[in-house]
Amino acid sequence: MSGKELQLIEKVFESNYIAPLGEFVTKFEESIKSYTSSPNALALNSGTSAIHLALRVSGVGAGDFILASSFTFIGSIAPILYVGATPIFIDSDSSWNLSPELLEKFLKEFHTQPKALIVTHLYGQMADMERIADICKKYEIVLIEDSAESLGASLNGKQSGTFGDFGVFSFNGNKILTTSGAGILIGKDVEKIEKAKFLSTQAKEDFIHYEHKEFGYNYRLSNVLASIGVAQMEVLSERVEKRRQIFQWYREELGDEVEFMPEIPNSKGNRWLTTVNLKRDTNSLVEKFGKEGIEVRPLWKPMHLQPLFKDAISEVDGTSEKLFETGLCLPSGTAMSREDVKRVAGVLNDK
Ligand SMILES: Cc1ncc(COP(=O)(O)O)c(C=O)c1O
Repeated sequence: MSGKELQLIEKVFESNYIAPLGEFVTKFEESIKSYTSSPNALALNSGTSAIHLALRVSGVGAGDFILASSFTFIGSIAPILYVGATPIFIDSDSSWNLSPELLEKFLKEFHTQPKALIVTHLYGQMADMERIADICKKYEIVLIEDSAESLGASLNGKQSGTFGDFGVFSFNGNKILTTSGAGILIGKDVEKIEKAKFLSTQAKEDFIHYEHKEFGYNYRLSNVLASIGVAQMEVLSERVEKRRQIFQWYREELGDEVEFMPEIPNSKGNRWLTTVNLKRDTNSLVEKFGKEGIEVRPLWKPMHLQPLFKDAISEVDGTSEKLFETGLCLPSGTAMSREDVKRVAGVLNDK
């Protein structure tokens, strides 16, 4: 927390308007619009809900195919199952993010046109959005950016989440900013965002009684959590610089012995997590860190390797599988000092 959150929460309580909605929900949306230069924003209870609504308002349903990054977190993918569609997983390239080559190769050979692509900006670093957006345009595929981890990252000065038809941010407890839990859906088309808002509040038709022509969800954000979001947005730039500083400290401590997740040219990641490829099995290392009271985790297990998706279609070349076997997420919380980073690096350097 930045310190200002309690002050804003108090204002909410003074107004006695804790839910539904309230002035801070609008303020939170406005602050995201202003930071990202996105024309529309919708505050929701999670990033997962935001992806779900992006699929719903894009008309995705049973029988549709949805392309997605394989190297990602399940929150990016589960909404495909919520709408009864079928995911297709695309592997990463040397950027660790979705490979535009494999995406295009797949599209050239596949018999059916997928409806949408969900591309994750992994660990806060930008995927090659200009090439990916060109491919989506060529094949008329809706582009959804999963920017859950990459709020504040940019490519050619353009903010993460603003390249696609939709962008999604998460304010879950572990993210660079948090409200304890929230999501924001941004999008270019005002009517689609309005439709998502309608669906997020139980699809209530405009009557004095409760009238429903279709079903929606209870996905809107409370005024209390939105007030935390407003205070958090004020420190976003600061937080990005601190995470980048932590990354830089790791680089200085660990030298060239490890490979860090790269930043593609002309991009600036938020370095949400500092992640490394050690090029060796990491199981014993996780245990060693555990004994020191330091929590490290393997990188995301690719979706095409998950038991849940054992029969899924995928276009893979072993890149994310290898990274999963030999990579680690290092402690990266904003509160870390140089001494903390030294301590973590010391365990890694101690062979
Ligand atoms: C890549 C990615 N996608 C989606 C999500 C889902 O966001 P939320 O936890 O807000 O539902 C997360 C984080 O939790 C994530 O890291």
